[in-house]
Amino acid sequence: MGATPEKSAYIVTGTTRGIGLALAQGVVARGDLLYTISRAPEHRAPGNQNYCCDLRDLAQVQAVMNRIMQDIPYASCSDLVLINNAGMLAPIGFLENIAAAQMEAHLHVNVMAPSLLMSEFIHLSNQLAKSATQSADHLADRLPCRRRILNITSGAASTPYAGWSVYCAGKAALNMITRCAALEQSEGPGGVSISAIAPGVVDTDMQAQIRASNEADFPARSRFVQMRAEGRMPTSAQVAALILDLDGDGQFRNGGIYDLRDAVNCDGKPYIEKRQ
Ligand SMILES: NC(=O)c1ccc[n+]([C@@H]2O[C@H](COP(=O)([O-])OP(=O)(O)OC[C@H]3O[C@@H](n4cnc5c(N)ncnc54)[C@H](OP(=O)(O)O)[C@@H]3O)[C@@H](O)[C@H]2O)c1
Repeated sequence: MGATPEKSAYIVTGTTRGIGLALAQGVVARGDLLYTISRAPEHRAPGNQNYCCDLRDLAQVQAVMNRIMQDIPYASCSDLVLINNAGMLAPIGFLENIAAAQMEAHLHVNVMAPSLLMSEFIHLSNQLAKSATQSADHLADRLPCRRRILNITSGAASTPYAGWSVYCAGKAALNMITRCAALEQSEGPGGVSISAIAPGVVDTDMQAQIRASNEADFPARSRFVQMRAEGRMPTSAQVAALILDLDGDGQFRNGGIYDLRDAVNCDGKPYIEKRQ
């Protein structure tokens, strides 16, 4: 009998910087397999395969996911995890000042692309599992491993902010897609576990963009300026480590919407309860 595979394979989007880059570095540091989807032709985190893709282009999104699912060595994987991390904040401003093209680009990146990646991930891995039970060829090696999807959402999904209407709406949609798809997956045995995680306010380029905006477009701006001045923003590395620890410990449950600010430390180990 062969040894039980111990490695997890992570597919992570938006890994050029911020939380996504830290997640990618964390996955590699833990010795797991990493497949990144980013706009960069090459990737900075060593030990991974990068698949170049602009998430505004849904044909590219679909093609890239198909390639990744062909390339994963399932026989050596215990877990297969998709982390939909990539996101954008722009356009910042009142709704009447936002152009249709800006809304469209935003919703493609923050809603359509992660939804399509979820759909392809579920569909293609289901297909592989079916072929594995029906054929004696090499696909039989691709026995289904535990499958999870983690969608990086935001507290803005449930708290409205003037100036962030498209961002708040997009993250609210991502939460609801998470919850609906999770219900679907709970209908039968061996479904994909799907949850969403709000990282809190994290010191990344996205926050720099908020501080660079003006109060007329985003009246709550000074709150974020103050948080940074008071050192109340965790780094991407801290947030990524917490996500990977909680995920590795199986704490993100199917259908749960989590906020990392709820995590508590007990004897050096983090614990979290879902918000919804
Ligand atoms: N930072 C926070 O305080 C905070 C709070 C709540 C939620 N979040 C969420 O956390 C996630 C990561 O945010 P972050 O703060 O790390 O943001 P960030 O530093 O601005 O990084 C965003 C990432 O998304 C990628 N991306 C954006 N548009 C893309 C496109 N069209 N195609 C491919 N990749 C694209 C960027 O790639 P490029 O380099 O190619 O642009 C980059 O890698 C996002 O979903 C965000 O909404 C962040």
